[in-house]
Amino acid sequence: MRYSTQLDHGKPIPLHDAAGFAAMRAAGRVAAETLDFITPYVKPGVSTAELDRLCDQFMRAAGSIPATIDYHGYKHASCISVNHVVTHGVPSATKILRAGDIVNIDVTPKLDGWHGDSSRTYEVGAVSILAARLVRTAHQAMMAGIAKVRPGAALGDVGAAIEALARAQGFSTVRDYCGHGIGQVFHDTPQVLHYGRAGTGIVLEPGMIFTIEPMLNAGSFQVKTLPDKWTTVTKDRSLSAQFEHTLAVTETGFEIFTLSALNPAQNPA
Ligand code: MF3
Ligand code: CO
Ligand code: CO
Repeated sequence: MRYSTQLDHGKPIPLHDAAGFAAMRAAGRVAAETLDFITPYVKPGVSTAELDRLCDQFMRAAGSIPATIDYHGYKHASCISVNHVVTHGVPSATKILRAGDIVNIDVTPKLDGWHGDSSRTYEVGAVSILAARLVRTAHQAMMAGIAKVRPGAALGDVGAAIEALARAQGFSTVRDYCGHGIGQVFHDTPQVLHYGRAGTGIVLEPGMIFTIEPMLNAGSFQVKTLPDKWTTVTKDRSLSAQFEHTLAVTETGFEIFTLSALNPAQNPA
C-alpha cells in the first residue's frame, strides 16, 4: 500500500492497490448482504437486541467478525438508531420497534482483516410523510456526495453536494460525525465531512477508500450524546436519518463496495 503526498490533519492518506480493492469488495459485499438479510425482520414488535443478534449471526456465518464488538468498549454487532437517535444507538431488548418508526442499522463486518461499513434507514410499517421525505433525502444526499467522487475532485465538493440536498428540503446535516477512510483500519484518514465548500479540502486520488455516511436531521443539526456515552440524539428531539456506503476512488470515478441486490446503485433503499 502506498500513501498520498497529501496529509489529512497531519496524517498520511492510504492509496490502496488491486489486492486491497479485491478485499474491500468482499468485505463490502458482506456488509450489504447483512443489510439485505435483516430487511424482512424490521417489523413492528421486534426488539433492537433481536435485530442485532440476527446481524451478528449473519456476519459470522459469512466468515466475518463484527468489528464494532470491543471497539472502544462497544459491545454489539451493530448500531441501531431509532427516530431521534442520530447514530450509535445501542441495541436493547427493551427497545421495541413500532409502526411509524424509522430505524438506522449500521454494520461493519471485518472479513480477512478488511472492513466493510454500511448503513440504511428502514421504515417500520407506514411512516409519516415527513419521515419518508427525510429518509429519501438522506439517501439522495449520500448518492449526490458519491456522484462527486473522481480523481481531481475535492472532498469539499462531496460535503457541499450533500448539504445542498439537505437544505433544499429544509433539513440539516450533522457536523459532529463524519465519514472516514477505511480498509484494514476501521476509522482511517481522510475525514469526510458532510458539509463544506466546493473546491476545498483533500483532492481525491485513485486508491483512496472511504465511507460517505450523512446524517440528516428534520430540525437543527445539533446533537448530544447520552450518559451511556454512545447513544447520540438530536438536541431538539427531531427525527434523524442516515445512509452509509463504503467506496473507492478509481481512475475514472468511483466504485461502491456496499451495493447489493436490494440496494443497487442509485436506487433508494
Ligand atoms: N459503523 C460506525 C461508522 O459508520 C461506527 C460504529 S463504532 C461503534 O463509522 F463502536 F459504535 F460501533
Ligand atoms: Co462508517
Ligand atoms: Co457504519
